[in-house]
Parts: sequence; structure tokens; C-alpha cells
Amino acid sequence: MKALAAGLALGLAGCAAWAQASPERGRALLLQRQDTGCVLCHQIPGLPAGGALGPTLQGLAERSTPAQARERIADARRFNPQTIMPPYLSTEGLHHVAAAYRGQTVLTPQAVDDIVSYLFEAKAP
Ligand code: HEC
Repeated sequence: MKALAAGLALGLAGCAAWAQASPERGRALLLQRQDTGCVLCHQIPGLPAGGALGPTLQGLAERSTPAQARERIADARRFNPQTIMPPYLSTEGLHHVAAAYRGQTVLTPQAVDDIVSYLFEAKAP
């Protein structure tokens, strides 16, 4: 129910997938250095010290909407073709992908929703 409350608070209650988004799962995903690597590049409120290759995600809710953050996580190249941030929901235009991973996105849409729900729920430390 906590996840549902987060979804309602963000005004996205109409979206069934969003209603199931879990900030707890999102937190765990953000912390995975191998699978997501988010903390390698970002300082994220409520998580242990992160990297500085990307901007801090502190205050994200003031400068972006959940939908915008989701788009950026899905494929940051849409906003900045030169970005070093990996596309988490796209397999287009990738090179040197190991055979076992070809055609697969790094994350599932549900996992991205979980991450966004954490980022927009997290309070300043
Ligand atoms: C290799 C470094 C790197 C990794 C890994 C990375 N990012 Fe980023 N991220 C960036 C950079 C650099 C930017 C700045 C904008 C750009 O280059 O597109 C950015 C921008 C963002 C933004 C927009 C920030 C703002 O101020 O509006 C969000 C949200 C974001 N990243 C979330 C994530 C999440 C969530 C993950 C993990 C799933 C992640 N990033 C992984 C480097 C990274």
C-alpha cells in the first residue's frame, strides 16, 4: 500500500503499472553497482555516497516530473546524444554487446518505475 500511496501522491494513480511501483525495490536497484550502476555516477538522497560523473539527484523532484525522469532513465540519448548515461530501456544503437545480452534492455519497465518511485519519494538526508 505504501507504493500505491506514492503513486497517488504523484498523480499517476491512473497507470496500473505505476500503482505497483515499489520505492523499496527501486532503492535496491539504485544500489546495484553491477546491474544499474546509478550510484557510480550519481549522488542519490538517502543512499551511501555516490559518484560525481553525473549530477546529484538531490532536488530532482523540483526540477523534473516523474515522467521526465523516466524518459531520461529509459534513454538519456534522446536529450543528449553525447551522454555517458547508459540507456536502460533501449537496445538501439548499442555496440559491442555480448551475445548473451543482445536484444535485451538493461532494466524492465517495472524496474524503472520502481526507481522513479524511490527518487520522487526520497527525502533530503
Ligand atoms: C556513466 C554514468 C551514469 C550512470 C551509470 C547513470 N547516469 Fe544518470 N546521468 C548521467 C549524466 C552525465 C547525466 C547528465 C545529463 C546527461 O548527460 O544526459 C545524468 C542524468 C540523469 C538524470 C537527470 C538529472 C537531472 O538533474 O534532471 C536522472 C534522473 C538520472 N541520470 C538517473 C539515473 C539513474 C536512475 C541511473 C541508474 C539506473 C543512472 N542515472 C545511471 C550519468 C550517469
